[in-house]
Amino acid sequence: MKVLYSAAQIQKVVKKLAKKIESSYRKTKTSQSLVVVSVLKGAFIFTADLIREINIPTQLEFVRISSYGTKKVSSGKIEAPLLLLPDLSGRDILLVEDIVDSGKTVLFLKEYLGAQFRPKSLKVACLLNKEARREVNIKADFIGFEVADYFLVGYGLDSAEKFRHLPYLAIDGH
Ligand code: IMP
Ligand code: MG
Repeated sequence: MKVLYSAAQIQKVVKKLAKKIESSYRKTKTSQSLVVVSVLKGAFIFTADLIREINIPTQLEFVRISSYGTKKVSSGKIEAPLLLLPDLSGRDILLVEDIVDSGKTVLFLKEYLGAQFRPKSLKVACLLNKEARREVNIKADFIGFEVADYFLVGYGLDSAEKFRHLPYLAIDGH
């Protein structure tokens, strides 16, 4: 497998992203903390690194969504979403996703969170943006890397549940 971004390159970008997020929410002056909603499983490593670089109080929540099954092309269906969240009404919510591909996962979650909680603000941070494959009109507010149409693994991202543990991002050529 070909390494696309090394662990050091990823850390640099995650730090930069965290600073942007931090300063953007610092300005909003709310009494309540920022709610980080991380999308399992892929975003777990990115989220762990990101929140440790954001120096404002955060509340961490998780949802779990799968749209890929074991294939490399999204089924396009949101399968068995697990949306076990406390009441987040009126809060500042930052959705944290590993990669935005077709955009359907983020669209689904934005609509769900928006309807359920009428948040004060609802933004999206993703480590990777695969713009070429976008099928719905979705744009993340904070983007780490713009990537071409490769299937990537490592740093939380899997191919049929393999390779999540790799500290770097690689192109899965199989
Ligand atoms: P979307 O709903 O098509 O935008 O798909 C988003 C989800 O598909 C992400 O949360 C990832 O879990 C998964 N995904 C998309 N592209 C890749 C990839 O290149 N490698 C691994 N997982 C991916
Ligand atoms: Mg995912």
